[in-house]
Amino acid sequence: MKLKERVVVGILSTLVFLTVVLVLNIEVVQVSQNGGGSPSSLGFLENLVAPDARSGAMVAFRKRVLQKSLNGSREASDPKSGAGAQPPVLGSPIDPVTNEIASVDPVVAEDFGDLVNLLVVKGAVDRKLRPVKFTKKKKPNPTVSEVLGFKARKNATSFERFHLGISRMEMYKEPDSIVDKLLHDMTTDEIVHMEQKDGGTQLKLMIDYASGGQAMMKPMRFPRDRETLPDHFYFTDFERHNAEIAAFHLDRALGFRRTPPVVGRLLNITTEIYAFAKGELLKTFFVSPAGNLCFHGKCSYYCDTSHAICGHPDMLEGSFAVFLPPKNVVPRKPWRHPWRRSYHKRKKAQWEWDDSYCEVVKETPPYDMGRRLLDLVDMAIFDFLMGNMDRHHYETFLVFGTNDTFPIHLDNGRAFGKANHDEVSILAPLVQCCQVRQSTLITLLRFHQGENKLSKVMWKSLNEDPLKPILLEPHLLALDRRIGIILRTVRECVQEASRTELVIVDDGV
Ligand SMILES: *[C@@H]1O[C@H](CO)[C@@H](O)[C@H](O)[C@H]1NC(C)=O
Ligand SMILES: *[C@@H]1O[C@H](CO)[C@@H](O)[C@H](O)[C@H]1NC(C)=O
Ligand SMILES: *[C@@H]1O[C@H](CO)[C@@H](O)[C@H](O)[C@H]1NC(C)=O
Ligand SMILES: *[C@@H]1O[C@H](CO)[C@@H](O)[C@H](O)[C@H]1NC(C)=O
Repeated sequence: MKLKERVVVGILSTLVFLTVVLVLNIEVVQVSQNGGGSPSSLGFLENLVAPDARSGAMVAFRKRVLQKSLNGSREASDPKSGAGAQPPVLGSPIDPVTNEIASVDPVVAEDFGDLVNLLVVKGAVDRKLRPVKFTKKKKPNPTVSEVLGFKARKNATSFERFHLGISRMEMYKEPDSIVDKLLHDMTTDEIVHMEQKDGGTQLKLMIDYASGGQAMMKPMRFPRDRETLPDHFYFTDFERHNAEIAAFHLDRALGFRRTPPVVGRLLNITTEIYAFAKGELLKTFFVSPAGNLCFHGKCSYYCDTSHAICGHPDMLEGSFAVFLPPKNVVPRKPWRHPWRRSYHKRKKAQWEWDDSYCEVVKETPPYDMGRRLLDLVDMAIFDFLMGNMDRHHYETFLVFGTNDTFPIHLDNGRAFGKANHDEVSILAPLVQCCQVRQSTLITLLRFHQGENKLSKVMWKSLNEDPLKPILLEPHLLALDRRIGIILRTVRECVQEASRTELVIVDDGV
């Protein structure tokens, strides 16, 4: 009798377990369908069924680069580190004033004079990393306005001027008074309409301003110090409004200018959201036991009472990202990211186990020529710095052709989730292809070797946002540490390559 009972209980729990697994699987499939959408230009890469093999290259890379950052050792046999090299940092540096272990990570203190030297020898910069060559012909950089023959009216809004100013090489110029005005307008203009965006996995609101401009709003869900839950996959992580804001500033600080402007704004839920809500969205508003005004909207993830978005008591923070020009006027082409993750709990993507994956990509248009492969490495560097694992597709503006224009760094809400974890798998395009754009390397070295660390530049830049502080200190310090890890990776590549030019590529961008 007892044995029988046990068998029955055993069978029942197995059934329950299987049901749970099935339900979770279906959810994951839904995510990939929502995230996807565009026909794949790399159809053969869809074959994601992978053995549970560990990628030799990635594991070896992790060992080499990360263990160093744990115990702070440097290459003793580095032949090129002569110029300007400082003594190696061993173990944790001791702060001479407090006599305590200083919080500076060894990789931040590491000297990359050897890489600077390579660039000097190449004739790209002087020892202070200032450019020495101005002779290179600049690439043509027409704007939307020039390509389509539209002129801005005298009374054109900052939104319209921003659209017309998008160019083949960048989203906006630097410095750009239109962007400054646009950021200001997005936080101050009167909101006249608001609607939930359909089809997303998480709640987003489309905002109409009195001027006619439009922005996509992502509401605050958690305080700034809430990290990604340890058991959340990158594809179930919550989106963070402050990550969207910080990503725009990071992209600008790195000189990419491929992210549309994003700014923070404090909203009165009553007058600026509830007043415009209709239909299904309206039904989701309620007052919480604490007396706060809340709503949860309709979407596939986290749109229920237990994940409601609540004001304090009726004020709510949100990120406001400017809309790109309408697709019927300025069409965009979606591309499947070759280093996309599998978006499945147990499957791995090909790049995660295939060491020679980059060789395959390099032979596939548009990665076989032009700028696009280097653009993917730039994007990997951008994503690694902010810990964003959620890059499944990207888009380009078709008015500038299919190949010779930048990929848009859009949708960064899942970045800045873990300040103390460096997810090196994000660097896979750099690790597996061993190529980096020369201008990007120079930018990273300037931040690393110079006075103005990226953390400092970002802190200053983010202080201009109405919702400051946007990032807490651990996230800012992580940027400096991660730059060191990227530079170590580049150094590894250079040491293994037959010629520097194969690793550090000057494509004029
Ligand atoms: C750092 O750690 C690695 C792996 O644990 C080890 O091989 C290496 O000798 C260590 N270096 C120093 C300086 O302790
Ligand atoms: C700009 O001026 C034109 C007339 O010249 C007018 O039709 C239009 O509504 C104005 N636009 C804005 C945004 O004020
Ligand atoms: C938000 O708007 C409502 C309605 O006008 C008002 O009663 C409330 O005081 C406002 N909240 C704040 C914090 O200003
Ligand atoms: C884009 O690049 C591919 C090769 O990657 C080439 O075949 C194609 O002609 C290029 N298209 C244009 C418009 O240059």
